[in-house]
Amino acid sequence: MRDGFLQWLRPATYLRGSFLTLFGAALTTSTAITLIAVWLLESTGRTVHPYAGIVIFVGLPALFVLGLILMPLGVLRERRRMRAGGETPPTHVDFGSAQVLRALSIIGLLTVVNVALLGIASYKGIEHMESTSFCGATCHVVMQPEYTAFQVSPHARMGCVECHVGSGASWFVRSKIAGVRQLIGVTTGHYSRPIPAPVRPIRSPSDTCEHCHNPQAYVGTRLKVVDKFADDESNSHSSTVLMLKVGGLRAGTASGIHGHHLNGGRITYIATDDKRQIIPRVTLTDASGHATEYASTDVKVTDADLQRGEHRVMDCLDCHNRSGHAFAPPERALDRAFAAGQISPELPFAKREALRLVKAEYADDARAGQAIETELTAFYRDKYPAVFKAKQADVRKAVASVRQVYSSNVFPAMKVVWGTYPNNVGHEEFPGCFRCHDGNHAAPDGRVISQDCDSCHNVLAMEEASPQILKDLGLAAQ
Ligand code: HEC
Ligand code: HEC
Ligand code: HEC
Ligand code: HEC
Ligand code: HEC
Repeated sequence: MRDGFLQWLRPATYLRGSFLTLFGAALTTSTAITLIAVWLLESTGRTVHPYAGIVIFVGLPALFVLGLILMPLGVLRERRRMRAGGETPPTHVDFGSAQVLRALSIIGLLTVVNVALLGIASYKGIEHMESTSFCGATCHVVMQPEYTAFQVSPHARMGCVECHVGSGASWFVRSKIAGVRQLIGVTTGHYSRPIPAPVRPIRSPSDTCEHCHNPQAYVGTRLKVVDKFADDESNSHSSTVLMLKVGGLRAGTASGIHGHHLNGGRITYIATDDKRQIIPRVTLTDASGHATEYASTDVKVTDADLQRGEHRVMDCLDCHNRSGHAFAPPERALDRAFAAGQISPELPFAKREALRLVKAEYADDARAGQAIETELTAFYRDKYPAVFKAKQADVRKAVASVRQVYSSNVFPAMKVVWGTYPNNVGHEEFPGCFRCHDGNHAAPDGRVISQDCDSCHNVLAMEEASPQILKDLGLAAQ
C-alpha cells in the first residue's frame, strides 16, 4: 500500500530541480490548507473582521493563484537553464509510459482540486466584498459618513451594493475595476474629502430601486407631521402638518408628484453645477412627442455653459438622492431628538444651546464630544443651578443625544459638515423641488413650472402649537 502510493507519487520528484516550482507548490498547498481551515472556522458562524477579510478573502486566494503560476514558470526556467547548460531537455513524451500517465493523473487530479478551491475562493471573496461591512467598514474613515447614515435609513437591511452595483455581469466588472482604483486611492491617501456626490455614473434606478419599488404603484396621499422646537427658553413646540400628494399611476392616469415625473423619461434637464443644484433648462416632452423647454429667468447662462452642463433624464434619484444615507440639517436632527424624548424640552434654552454646540467647528469627533459635554453641563450648572440640580439625568441624556446628533452628521476627517450633501426631496433646507418649481422657469408661451403650494401638498397646519387637525385625526400628543 505505502509502496504503491510512493510509486504513484514518483513523478513529483521531477519537480525538485526547480526552486520556483517547488516554491509555487509549497505556496499553493499551504494557502489551500489555510483557506480550507478558515472556511471551516467561518462556517461555525464566526464573523470575520473586515480587515482580516481582505487578507482571508482576497490575499490568500491571490497567493494561491501566484503559487499556481510559479509552478509552470519554474518548469520553463528549468528548461531554459538546461538548454543554456548544453543539456537537451526531453523533447519526446511517451504517453504510453506508466510514469507519464501517473504524472498526468496527478496533474489532472490536482487541477480539479485547484479549480474547485479557486471557485469557492472567488465566490467567498465576492460575497465578502459585496457585504455591507466590507463597503462600510473596511475603508473605515472614508465610508464612515455613509455607513453611519445608512444604518439608520429605511434601507439599512439591504446591502450597499443593491444601489451601487445592482445585478448583472457588466456592472459587476465595472464596480470591481472602480473598486481596485478606490482601494489604491485609499491606501495611498489620494481620494476626495468629501467624496463627491452625485455618483457618476450610478446604476439606473430601473436596475436598482425598481427591483423593490414598483414605479407604477399608486402611492396616493401621505400625511407628514413635522415637529419643531424653537430656540426660546421653553423650547416651544410646534407642528406642521402636510398631506403630500405623492400620487402615481391609477387606471392609466398619472397624478401627483410621482405621476408627473415618472411617465417614462419625459423630463430632461441641464444642470450647470457639480451637485445638480442649478438647473437653468428643463424640457418636458408630452405623450405626442411635443417638447416644451422651460428656461430659468433667474439663472443667466451662455450657450457654452449649457453645452458644458450635465444633460440628464429625470429619474428617482433626482428627488430621492439621499435615500441610502441621508444627513439631516442641524435644526431638524435636533428637533427629531426632542420629538423622540432624548432631549427634554424642560431644559431651558436646550434647543438654542444644542444648536450652537453642534454647529461649532471641531477638529475631530472626540473633541466635539468633549466640548459638547463640558459646555452644555456648564451652561446648566452656572446659569440654571436649580434646574441642574433637579434634572441631572435629563442633562446627561441631552448631552449624549447632542453628541449623537453631531457624530451622525458631521465627519471632520472626511470634511463632511452640515449641508455638504444636499437633499433634493422638499425645499426647506435645500432648493430641492424648487430647483425647477421656483415659478421662474418659463416656457416660450409664458407657462411656468408650477410653484403652487397645493399642487404638491396641502398644508393643513403651519407651525401651530397644537393643530386642530391632529386632534381630529387622533394624533395629538398626550
Ligand atoms: C437606497 C440606495 C443606496 C444604498 C443602500 C446606499 N447608497 Fe450610497 N448612494 C446612493 C445614491 C443615490 C448616491 C448619490 C447621492 C447624491 O446624489 O446625493 C449615493 C452616494 C454615495 C457616496 C458618495 C458620497 C455621498 O454621500 O453621496 C458614497 C461614498 C456612498 N454612496 C457609499 C455607500 C455605502 C458605503 C453604502 C452602504 C453602507 C451605501 N452607499 C448604500 C444610493 C445608495
Ligand atoms: C432591496 C430592496 C430595495 C431597494 C433596491 C430599494 N429600496 Fe427603497 N425601500 C425598501 C423597503 C423595504 C422600504 C421600506 C422600509 C421601511 O418602511 O422601513 C423602502 C423605503 C423607501 C422609501 C421610503 C422612505 C421613508 O422614509 O419612508 C423611499 C423614498 C425609497 N425606499 C426609495 C428608494 C430608492 C430611490 C431606491 C433606489 C436608489 C430604493 N429605494 C431601493 C426596499 C428597497
Ligand atoms: C419629483 C420627485 C420624485 C421622483 C422623481 C420620485 N419620487 Fe418618490 N417620492 C417623492 C416624494 C416627495 C415622496 C413623499 C415624501 C417623502 O418620502 O419624503 C415620495 C415617496 C416615495 C416613497 C414612499 C412611498 C410611501 O408609501 O410612503 C417611495 C417608496 C418612493 N417615493 C420611491 C420612488 C421611486 C422608486 C422612484 C423612481 C421610480 C421615485 N420615488 C421617484 C418624490 C419623488
Ligand atoms: C428637473 C426639474 C424638476 C424637479 C427637480 C422637480 N420637478 Fe416637478 N415638475 C417638473 C416639470 C417639468 C413638471 C411638468 C409641468 C407641467 O406639466 O406643465 C413638473 C410637474 C410637477 C407636478 C404637477 C404640477 C401640476 O401643476 O399639476 C408636481 C405635483 C410636481 N412636479 C412635484 C414635484 C416635487 C414634489 C418635486 C421635488 C421633490 C419636484 N416636482 C421636482 C420638473 C421638476
Ligand atoms: C413642487 C412641489 C412643492 C411645492 C410647489 C411646494 N412644496 Fe412644500 N414641500 C414639498 C415637499 C415634497 C415637502 C416634503 C419634504 C419632505 O418629505 O421632507 C414639502 C414640505 C413643506 C413644508 C414642511 C417643511 C418642513 O419643515 O419639513 C412646508 C411648511 C411647506 N412645504 C410649505 C410650502 C409652501 C408654503 C409652498 C408654496 C409657496 C410650498 N410648500 C410649495 C413640495 C412642494
